[in-house]
Amino acid sequence: MTVPLEIHLDADDQERALRADVVAGLTATPKSLPPKWFYDARGSELFEQITELPEYYPTRAERAILTAHATDIARLTGARTLIELGSGYSTKTRLLLDALRPELFVPMDVSPTALEAAAARIAVDHPSLRVRSIVGDFTRHLGFLPVADDRLVAFLGGTIGNLAPDERARFLAGVRGVLRPGEHLLLGTDLVKSPRVLVPAYDDAAGVTAEFNRNVLRVLNHHLQADFDVDGFTHVALWDADHEWIEMRLRARRPMRVTIPAVDLAVEFASGEEIRTEISAKFRREGVAKELSEAGFTLDHWWTDPEARFALTLARALP
Ligand code: SAH
Ligand code: TRP
Repeated sequence: MTVPLEIHLDADDQERALRADVVAGLTATPKSLPPKWFYDARGSELFEQITELPEYYPTRAERAILTAHATDIARLTGARTLIELGSGYSTKTRLLLDALRPELFVPMDVSPTALEAAAARIAVDHPSLRVRSIVGDFTRHLGFLPVADDRLVAFLGGTIGNLAPDERARFLAGVRGVLRPGEHLLLGTDLVKSPRVLVPAYDDAAGVTAEFNRNVLRVLNHHLQADFDVDGFTHVALWDADHEWIEMRLRARRPMRVTIPAVDLAVEFASGEEIRTEISAKFRREGVAKELSEAGFTLDHWWTDPEARFALTLARALP
């Protein structure tokens, strides 16, 4: 089955944005690459595998909260439209769809392959649901979200933690900007806990997360004709206790010179030099409440799994 996608990020757009990000990130000190480039078809598929790893508890914890509270969310929001940002394969979202039975579902993601797979599956289980899949960047394209009745915006998976604090503030204010007072945001956040639990979730024994992290180099090889020796980089996951975030890096095993013809760039790596690829911030209730309030939301409900590893917040747009 093929499903129409509404595209606000076409291949040309993507290539242009990728080039700009690569030039900025790989000529900076320290080197960095923004995380949205992990998610080509293979990256989206690898992330789905991460969600099933024994060490990666966030997905199971968030699913447990959704199972326990989906009917509360339906009753409290009365939402007729469900918008999901960074929806990926929308795997957990089905719990919300089953409870809400909305008229319209609007998933937005940078990954067209994940959106297509999700829409095809949802069409089978919810044949009368209208689905409007949007290929877009949630840091740039919130303005394309439809105006509809009683909207609930879901942002699950702890993906908000992948934004830097200033990006997070801009993002939350942007979401508030497209909502009317009284409409809702459902926000999934991973919580601060022992690094003995956190670090393995981002550095699993089977090496799937390492493969996922290195996939960003394959994306550069493929789209920009770069010549990264992907296996020349090791995956690093560190707990930064001051910022309360996990930081993912790729570390050069030996000195390397990488050429990236599409942007006319040669990049030197010293042995042991690292590229920062991702942060995954961990939260506390006070911090979430404060950030929401600064963006014009009020925190109505805070639910955690029984072990308090992960939280789901129901917030309401203030006038
Ligand atoms: N919501 C799913 C997937 C989380 S992984 C879950 O909870 O399991 C993060 C998702 O966000 C991926 O599907 C990725 O493609 C998407 N994503 C990352 N950066 C994005 C951006 N800037 N704009 C839109 N989608 C983005
Ligand atoms: N939103 C996910 C998280 O922060 C993304 C993620 C999980 C991730 N594992 C990763 C990103 C490994 C990069 C590398 O938990």
